Amino acid sequence: MPELIPQPRYARFAPDGGACVLDDPLLDAGPGTEGTARWLRRELGAATGWDLPAPEAGHADGGRVVIRLALRPELARGAGAESYELRVTRERVLLEGADPAGLFYAAQTLRQLLGPEAHRRAPATPDRRRRLPVGEVRDAPRFGWRGLMLDVARHFMPKDGVLRYIDLLAAHKLNVLHLHLTDDQGWRIEIKRHPRLTEVGAWRPRSRWGHRASPLWNETPHGGFYTQEDVREIVAYAAERHVRVVPEIDVPGHSQAAIAAYPELGNTDVVDTAALQVWDDWGINENVLAPTEAVLRFYEGVFEELLELFPAEVSPFVHVGGDECPKEQWRASALAQERIRELGVDGEDGLQSWFIRHFDGWLAERGRRLIGWDEILEGGLAPGAAVSSWRGYAGGIAAAEAGHDVVMCPEQHVYLDHRQAGGPDEPMPIGYVRTLEDVYRFEPVPPKLSPEAASRVLGAQANVWTEVMENQSRVDYQVFPRLAAFAEVVWSRLPEPGERDYADFEARMGAHYRRLDVLGVDYRRPGGPLPWQRRPGVLGRPMEGEPPNV
Ligand code: ACM
Repeated sequence: MPELIPQPRYARFAPDGGACVLDDPLLDAGPGTEGTARWLRRELGAATGWDLPAPEAGHADGGRVVIRLALRPELARGAGAESYELRVTRERVLLEGADPAGLFYAAQTLRQLLGPEAHRRAPATPDRRRRLPVGEVRDAPRFGWRGLMLDVARHFMPKDGVLRYIDLLAAHKLNVLHLHLTDDQGWRIEIKRHPRLTEVGAWRPRSRWGHRASPLWNETPHGGFYTQEDVREIVAYAAERHVRVVPEIDVPGHSQAAIAAYPELGNTDVVDTAALQVWDDWGINENVLAPTEAVLRFYEGVFEELLELFPAEVSPFVHVGGDECPKEQWRASALAQERIRELGVDGEDGLQSWFIRHFDGWLAERGRRLIGWDEILEGGLAPGAAVSSWRGYAGGIAAAEAGHDVVMCPEQHVYLDHRQAGGPDEPMPIGYVRTLEDVYRFEPVPPKLSPEAASRVLGAQANVWTEVMENQSRVDYQVFPRLAAFAEVVWSRLPEPGERDYADFEARMGAHYRRLDVLGVDYRRPGGPLPWQRRPGVLGRPMEGEPPNV
């Protein structure tokens, strides 16, 4: 039985182990299948040495196996969007998608069926023959939002790393990459009308090495940003792989990098914002945006450029952050207090709500939808806005019951910066212990939800905050193998009745570790970190016991 991850809805393979032997097969791409044909020629072609030419009309196929790609929209009626069917006989291979995304997932399953070697970038053997098990797969996702959030602000991930992560998401049938592009420690996207955001805001002279309690500093300057052309490339690369990129510009908190670049954005009547630098430390920062019309105009300019780079077809949603905005400066600021009176809002919380509502209306006028962290519920949420429920399920439940769309990403379950074992060897341990099995058992739809509200759960995403991940290898270690478990949570249906079968998943992971090896993923081994994956003596911020508010 081939070991597929995520588990398909239905799969049956010939019990006699029958196989289709492919030796320089042909690729017959039906109308509307060009994207997947291109991907197969590029990816499978690279791994096998196959050219995958189209069959020539009127010519016999010369005994070569034909891989046929077709769209079959009627599949969607039974199985929904993104569904597919894959059939392998001894003579031929048929991939059918309800839509181009479904067909693309059929191709991903085909690659898994061909074995780990099919994930290479060049053949490791001169033999061009490959075997596919005879059988059939019928498959469809449970949720439409299957995401990963990468924090590229705390530590920058260069463009090539982002493209690589898009491929890794696609290989796990995930379809949303949420990029956390701005924070106190860095601004990562070029905004042409405000060049200092990256000239100044993308760089910091040093970083704390470890988390807050750590006395150590990494004195190497850190930074980087994506040019607008880089962003267009990332978005196009993702679209070819049916991944939507959701950009996040975090307001009104988490904004010190922007204030360091443009001091007038801060609360100038209570702090000397001209003296602020891009933050070199971790935690929640009091330097938040000033609640002025000028600040709104500044960020409208930022969002105008953002909307150009992320067309509505790519991401109807624009993430405005809204999390962890301390109110001390607004309490102390005569200007902010005057603003509260002028606007007639309910104190500092009302001010935060006013800020978010402004961008909700502004985005809606432009045909977009606002999404923000669950703090945006405080003070009342505009209709049409969606919520990323991170402080547990509660925000998501409240939002869904009030008719808002929700993406479940509770920190107690799917924050992949949290440590994956309790031992002393975990590098810079953060948060609660969340093992591969814990993530596998995460359920995005809490049982308390009414059926109506449950239909508001668009899906889920795993979030990766990178304070203690100084490079891609550290990100890989935190993300894998847990992202494979997460992929199964959001793709595969819950068994009826009963619970997910972790032993079965673990057995399939045997094959999946080989795929990750070939893909060059620096994952955590089941036995713990390899010596070079440890960070002996560097303090993290572990929390003990079971997480509250689950
Ligand atoms: C968050 O973790 N501050 C959204």
